[in-house]
Amino acid sequence: MTALTPTQDVLERAAETIKRGGVVVMPTETVYGLACDALNAEAVRKVFEIKGRPAENPLIVHVASVEEAEGIAERFPDEARRLAERFWPGPLTLVLEKRDTVPSETTADLGTVAVRMPDHPVALDLIRKAGCPVAAPSANPFMALSPTTADAIDESISLDVEIIIDGGPCRVGLESTVVDLSGDFPRILRPGGVSRAQVQAVLGRPLGHLPPETVRRSPGLYLRHYAPNAKVEVVDAAPEGRPALVFGDARSDQVKMPREPRAYAAQLYASLRHLDRKGHEVIYVEAPPDGAEWEAIHDRLKKASS
Ligand code: TXA
Ligand code: MG
Repeated sequence: MTALTPTQDVLERAAETIKRGGVVVMPTETVYGLACDALNAEAVRKVFEIKGRPAENPLIVHVASVEEAEGIAERFPDEARRLAERFWPGPLTLVLEKRDTVPSETTADLGTVAVRMPDHPVALDLIRKAGCPVAAPSANPFMALSPTTADAIDESISLDVEIIIDGGPCRVGLESTVVDLSGDFPRILRPGGVSRAQVQAVLGRPLGHLPPETVRRSPGLYLRHYAPNAKVEVVDAAPEGRPALVFGDARSDQVKMPREPRAYAAQLYASLRHLDRKGHEVIYVEAPPDGAEWEAIHDRLKKASS
């Protein structure tokens, strides 16, 4: 399956595919997603099967407007409204109480639904044309690195979908921040493209820390995740001449990474994948600075190296 340029014709065909219960790959600003009608249990089951993902790990539902989000959430509390106004479209996912119209397949029986409006013209156009909320996990096999370009999509995925839309490289490059608003106080379940400080600034109160039972509330928080085939080792300085992501001068089989967190995030998966495809056993990654702006990057490196 070759990736198609998002012409109006391609988008219409992709929207038709979603409407009749098929699966397509769509670009978003974070990573590419494996997209289907979020309200069609049969289509959702197909997505789980293609990804090889355990059924207890729920999907994020993508919408093209706040009204559409209200249509799948039982309640859209004031804090959700403020966050949506500030960060949508964008890399922020809100976990809210779900309505009965959302099948339990989509939400893994949780009673809550994760929803976001992606900041990508192709994704928004596709969702509008399909006329339904669109469930989309990252378009990688379970536990592998999320694709941030169309040619990074694994063959096992591309063989099973009807259309792949090439939206170019993903601007953010890491998955969305997941904020749980369904409990007594808001909590970050997954750090991502919107920082903890940005969320706290809008809410005007600190976000809760992850309690131990989180692994059950957000099953996607498996420790090893977002990992290449190679073993990832985070180190202070990369050993001479070994495959690595470095901040200084790069030798062959090393990739020089930006010192600015957003630029680093945008390149992280593509750089790991580049070295991974050469079949190295270990990829060394020079530890990024501490600092709150690096939280999502540290999270993914920790998961890739677990
Ligand atoms: O940036 C993104 O979020 C990308 C693009 C395609 O939008 N999607 C993505 O989906 O990363 P996925 O399925 O790979 O990750 C979804 C995460 C998982 O950690 C899952 O457990 C969590 O969101 N999640 C989904 N629904 C949830 C819910 N109802 N309650 C708690 N966590 C939920
Ligand atoms: Mg994923």
